[in-house]
Amino acid sequence: MNVVILAAGQGKRMYSDTPKVLHALAGKPLLAHVVDTARELSPKRICVVYGHGGEAVRESLSSRVGTSPITWVLQEPQLGTGHALKQALPHLEDSATTLILYGDVPLIRGATLKRLCAAAGAGMAVLTVELDDAQGYGRIVRKAGAIERIVEQKDANPAEQAIREVNTGIMVVPTAKLNAWLGRLSNENAQSEYYLTDIVALAVAEGTSVSGVQPHAVWETLGVNSRNQLAELERVYQGNVAGELMGRGVTLADPARIDVRGHLGCGRDVTIDVNCVFEGEVALGDRVSIGANCVVKNARVASGTRIEPFCHIEDADIGANCRVGPYARIRPHTVLDEDVHVGNFVEVKASTIGKGSKANHLAYIGDSEVGRNVNVGAGTITCNYDGANKHRTVIEDDVFIGSDTQLVAPVRVGRGATLGAGTTLTSDAPEGQLTVSRAKQVSIRGWKRPVKTK
Ligand code: UD1
Ligand code: CA
Repeated sequence: MNVVILAAGQGKRMYSDTPKVLHALAGKPLLAHVVDTARELSPKRICVVYGHGGEAVRESLSSRVGTSPITWVLQEPQLGTGHALKQALPHLEDSATTLILYGDVPLIRGATLKRLCAAAGAGMAVLTVELDDAQGYGRIVRKAGAIERIVEQKDANPAEQAIREVNTGIMVVPTAKLNAWLGRLSNENAQSEYYLTDIVALAVAEGTSVSGVQPHAVWETLGVNSRNQLAELERVYQGNVAGELMGRGVTLADPARIDVRGHLGCGRDVTIDVNCVFEGEVALGDRVSIGANCVVKNARVASGTRIEPFCHIEDADIGANCRVGPYARIRPHTVLDEDVHVGNFVEVKASTIGKGSKANHLAYIGDSEVGRNVNVGAGTITCNYDGANKHRTVIEDDVFIGSDTQLVAPVRVGRGATLGAGTTLTSDAPEGQLTVSRAKQVSIRGWKRPVKTK
């Protein structure tokens, strides 16, 4: 099969410098949704007809490696959908059928497209829907039940305008016939465009069968022409994801208040409170609970761990039975072992923290290796950056770090060592000993506070 994705339209009503098909739905460009769905059908190739925003459109998808290669076809100027398909024609394989998709119709499902292809057989098939308000769409004109032609809104007479069955634009066509059909299109119509929809009448005239297929849900066929429609489809998408999560046993405090921009995998009895955002690839183990207002990106959270509200977690691996937050920031390349506690206003970056260790309040742990059963006091900071380079801090097992301590990296704290509160550690602390750097405490008898001079 060939797939052609029409994506050259300008998208005027977005009022944007970004080409319409590059606007994101669930964190992914509209066009990428369509390409990914097309790939479910394993087509020989995918042709994307682009125009507006040219290079940006190509570049945005260049990083998305996939099975079926993409052929980019420039349509300039844009003279209509029929003209668009004509640009793709030289790149299509004659012996296979061609599926036509729109780059701005992101939620079409693979299963629906498979039904459409099956219905087409060696002929044509058009995906249609019945709408209460068909305004703006091409209408499906039937005769004795069979599809006869498609008439565009602007060319339709009052009787045709009353038809509620519309063309979604998605169709399957026999490629070998396209050359002749597209060659016969004329632009003598209300919009002076070459209408792809006119090939339906040509097919019927030749005795090629034209089937009509309906999707399971209308939202599959909805296009994005404005920010309002983009937001509507985002909610549809997120509602579907929430429904699937609950269907697989996840508790959502409110299915209307979760956003998944990527893939969220969940074990058994996972609970997610309101307003959480999951990005990229996220895996939550059994019995994980995520508090309200967390943002979790490309992370694994192992079973039994509780993420308290207002945490930001990115590119991290969090072990089992940990407690993180509220208000914790876990930055890239962080690995927490089991039973680790990271509390409020603690930032951890590119560090490993061993089993049973705790940093419960107000700390920065960066470029560090923290052993097991370490207690990091409030206000502890690893000074990992000297203004030019980053250095590592190593804190061995069973260390106790008093509050308000700075560890000036590179530095090592030996096993079982204690650092007194307020220490500025600039060289290694030996194991098992108390290390403290602090001016001796003095009290001055008879000292008087200054008084204001008149
Ligand atoms: C088209 C259909 C109409 C259907 C409607 C569904 C035609 C003539 N009409 O109308 O029957 O009900 O879609 O939304 O096909 N595009 C190009 N190059 C062009 C023109 C369009 O690539 O020269 C692309 C657009 O980017 C878009 C798609 O084709 O993805 C449809 O174009 P649009 O202008 O939205 O078509 P409509 O006039 O709405
Ligand atoms: Ca449209």
